[in-house]
Amino acid sequence: MDSILVTGNGPLNGEIPIAGAKNACLTLMPATLLSEEPLTLTNAPRLSDIRTMTLLLQSLGAEVTAMNAGKVLAMSSHALTSQRAEYDIVRKMRASILVLGPLLARFGYAEVSLPGGCAIGARPVDLHLKAMEALGAEMDLRDGYVHAKAPAGGLKGGVVEFPLVSVGATENALMAATLAKGTTVLKNAAREPEIVDLAHCLRKMGAQISGEGTSTIEVQGVERLGGATHSVVTDRIDLGPYMLAPAICGGEVTCRGGRIDLLQAFCERLDAAGVSVEETDKGLKVARKNGRVKAVDVVTEPFPGFPTDLQAQMMALMCTADGKAVLEEKIFENRFMHAPELIRMGARIDVHGGTATVSGVERLKGAPVMATDLRASVSLILAGLAAEGETIVNRVYHLDRGYENVEEKLSALGARIERVAGQ
Ligand code: EPU
Repeated sequence: MDSILVTGNGPLNGEIPIAGAKNACLTLMPATLLSEEPLTLTNAPRLSDIRTMTLLLQSLGAEVTAMNAGKVLAMSSHALTSQRAEYDIVRKMRASILVLGPLLARFGYAEVSLPGGCAIGARPVDLHLKAMEALGAEMDLRDGYVHAKAPAGGLKGGVVEFPLVSVGATENALMAATLAKGTTVLKNAAREPEIVDLAHCLRKMGAQISGEGTSTIEVQGVERLGGATHSVVTDRIDLGPYMLAPAICGGEVTCRGGRIDLLQAFCERLDAAGVSVEETDKGLKVARKNGRVKAVDVVTEPFPGFPTDLQAQMMALMCTADGKAVLEEKIFENRFMHAPELIRMGARIDVHGGTATVSGVERLKGAPVMATDLRASVSLILAGLAAEGETIVNRVYHLDRGYENVEEKLSALGARIERVAGQ
């Protein structure tokens, strides 16, 4: 297994591009299943999760061709051969559940392996299943699979009221509702930019949707959807770490394609910590010029709140902040696994349930550490950039699921970072 070697060496400066959003792409890709006509995505990120979704769609008989070094995905579902998402693929990536809504809506039937446990939390899929039921589907759980069946004549519009905000369940319900008969109202829907991007793409395909980006989305079902070409929205979770890099090391970095509206709550926290964030024609210019950052508290929440996917990286910044920061994780019950690794680097962190208290130290010290999940992996790299000496981050396959060319991008800013090939 490869590892990443980081040697802390002072301020970072320069300009780097931000990739298209993994989590938008992972819901835009299954949208191809809704139509016989081609769907082409541009600005796709080049990541192992995208390759996993490609394999899943291909296993259903969809054509998926990666072009322009993987930045363009040309897809067609005109001749699907299966409505069954097998365990062997689903177990590698939970976002596989996002084929459920589209398959059910177009074919009236779907079998999807239930995703198992996950390192960051239990992550059940009950809300996805309840949403399909609200559209008239019968759900049967057996052999580790959900067997979903639409009524004769297809899914029917209905009211889906989510008891808690779920990004994936909103996406599944939104896709399914586009082909359901009549009107569907999604209440307490997720408002993430990835949902807005999905709605924009579905509308280009002919769907009738209003209210995306608010907590009530209305969908008027149509007979069929057509083809479209769509550019994937900028990845706010790829953007976050590159904004934190100059915050943690000093310097000034421009993140091309970055926008404040994608990360308003995060930008406000950076501002409170003493990091300047300026939106320019090119993207976001981020700088830390005046000594240590100040400790700031963070509570993770659904959008537009502070994203759980940036909590680990923010914790890395707080490790060397001046003062005590309290980070509360409200989305996933086990998302502090990076804390013991950061402690190995000299951080002072106390975790009690869903709350981590970080008392900033002047300097972290390099150490061998282990990436425990995708977002934890990049937080350890950030910590390594700020540490004295060498940090080796092991298990970087987590990193490759969600971050494109991290070593190249950080090297371009002046960081000393390299990938070490495993034995
Ligand atoms: N939940 C349920 N039942 C459900 C669905 C969710 O109880 O049926 C709970 C979850 O366990 C969690 C909360 O609801 O406590 C919110 O989960 P959500 O459904 O919003 O998460 P998700 O759709 O599974 C997506 C992202 C995650 C990101 C979360 C929260 C994708 C592919 N994944 O997951 O991204 O953390 O939303 O914003 O879009 C990552 O990229 O590292 C990642 C984990």
